[in-house]
Amino acid sequence: TRHLLGIKDINADDIQLIFETADNFKEVLNRPIKKVPSLRDITIANIFFENSTRTRLSFELAEKRLSADVLNFSSSNSSVKKGETLIDTVNNILSMKVDMVVMRHSSPGAPHFLSKNIKANIVNAGDGTHEHPTQALLDAFSIREKLGDVAGKKVAIIGDILHSRVALSNIFCLQKLGAEVMVCGPTTLLPRYIGQLGVKIEHDVEKALQWCDVANVLRIQLERQQIKYFPSLREYSLYFGINREKLNKLDKEIVIMHPGPINRGVELNSDVADSEHSIILQQVENGVAIRMAVLYLLAGVK
Ligand code: CP
Repeated sequence: TRHLLGIKDINADDIQLIFETADNFKEVLNRPIKKVPSLRDITIANIFFENSTRTRLSFELAEKRLSADVLNFSSSNSSVKKGETLIDTVNNILSMKVDMVVMRHSSPGAPHFLSKNIKANIVNAGDGTHEHPTQALLDAFSIREKLGDVAGKKVAIIGDILHSRVALSNIFCLQKLGAEVMVCGPTTLLPRYIGQLGVKIEHDVEKALQWCDVANVLRIQLERQQIKYFPSLREYSLYFGINREKLNKLDKEIVIMHPGPINRGVELNSDVADSEHSIILQQVENGVAIRMAVLYLLAGVK
């Protein structure tokens, strides 16, 4: 494939190849000289129509570690504000001899639409509430690193599943790698189609924590909630928030993940986020190696 638009489009062998490539790049990143010349003749544009800290910086760092030339574009200070369309914007950037596009957009399907209308490799860095494929890859890679394998592990995805692109990409990725997946949250924050995805559904967070090996805790995405959802943040935190008290009730240790940014005190308390149970910063670290692997493999099939 020339693009990475979603985990739905790739198979377990593709994911394993990305992981093995990322293993090599992770070793490179631990050396004193962290750079390789692999993409020396490639130019990559990071085109962000939505805010980002982790994804944007780790793509940029991955590109620089691969020796690519990098352009960074933010819609908020661009001519998009004057009414320029998505395709015009990207085609103008591509006319400057850009080879690959990494794009985040608030509309589900925007990178798929773009892939049919432009001539460049596209990597989806998050499209609305749809997919965030590199996040799912780095999440599964972090589980593999922590627990040895993903196959056979029980992963509970807890929180605002309805507005989450991380949830959908994680469900596809974990299932393709042979994990069991549960989603947990209030009914109002689970999408209606969730029952068709082959996941367990749980509304009692304490039961979800007792069931799982790994809890991937998701942010309550207030910016995507157009109507006032039940529960309120205070109610959410009381019934679904992960804190030390809930972990202390378990008869086992579990791994805590979060894609970031965290709403501290809402879906996750600091006494868990910053504890030995959490691999949140390892996820961020692994994001660079995973994104290097994705860019390297896509550039190789041009
Ligand atoms: N996890 C994630 O996508 O974070 P950013 O929105 O900061 O990129």
